[in-house]
Amino acid sequence: MLSSEHTRRDAELRAIRRRQPYAIDVDGLRIWVAEDVFPPDLGYSPRRLAAVLGRYTPRRALDMGCGSGYLALVLSKNGAREVWAVDKHPPAIACTRANVARNPPLRVRAVESDLFSSIDPSTTFDLIVFNQPFYPSTAPRGVFGMRRDGGRAIIERFLIQARGFVARDSVILMPFSQMAGAENDPGAIAARLGYTSRIVRRDDDGPHAHVIHEIRARGRAS
Ligand SMILES: C[S@@+](CC[C@H](N)C(=O)[O-])C[C@H]1O[C@@H](n2cnc3c(N)ncnc32)[C@H](O)[C@@H]1O
Repeated sequence: MLSSEHTRRDAELRAIRRRQPYAIDVDGLRIWVAEDVFPPDLGYSPRRLAAVLGRYTPRRALDMGCGSGYLALVLSKNGAREVWAVDKHPPAIACTRANVARNPPLRVRAVESDLFSSIDPSTTFDLIVFNQPFYPSTAPRGVFGMRRDGGRAIIERFLIQARGFVARDSVILMPFSQMAGAENDPGAIAARLGYTSRIVRRDDDGPHAHVIHEIRARGRAS
């Protein structure tokens, strides 16, 4: 259901888009936010996910829906040996590559792909972070991948495909705000699909809780 809060958020998104492109320093990283690429300083999810990433020590990690590449760079900075960044939006991949070049010696493999479609099925990841497009958008063509359904369809598709790309004991991290509507909650969708999940961070933002889900698959051995 679309509320006045959603409409207001869409207006904020459009205002941010008007000031793009711009450069910011965040977590010691120099990030270029290209035109039409999701800004990592928008909303709470990117910074809160980045903080949670520090608790894990993956060998091979994936930033699904990488936007500017901010979370992929955080993973590389934290010491992950191999970091992949995937987005289906070509400007996001170009922006991620530009940001890797701006932050030596960090290394990230950026791949244009609709979810896992361009990733070799023999590849497995210890950690996947997906700041998925959520919030029902009122913009006619969506903004940064957000659509009117509030995320449910992409979350389902992602979690179904992810089963083939996770190693035993892998974790998947996904944010959620109650503002997006219970039907778009990755924790509930994951449970329906046979994953286990728990909340590893919770912030109460006014009337709506913002959470980060840690979703675990009963994956295959790496
Ligand atoms: C909310 S933004 C997150 C960007 C970045 N990870 C961050 O936290 O700043 C969601 C990203 O998912 C990407 N996306 C949407 N649908 C996708 C799909 N089917 N496959 C890959 N990426 C997708 C969008 O292009 C967008 O860059």
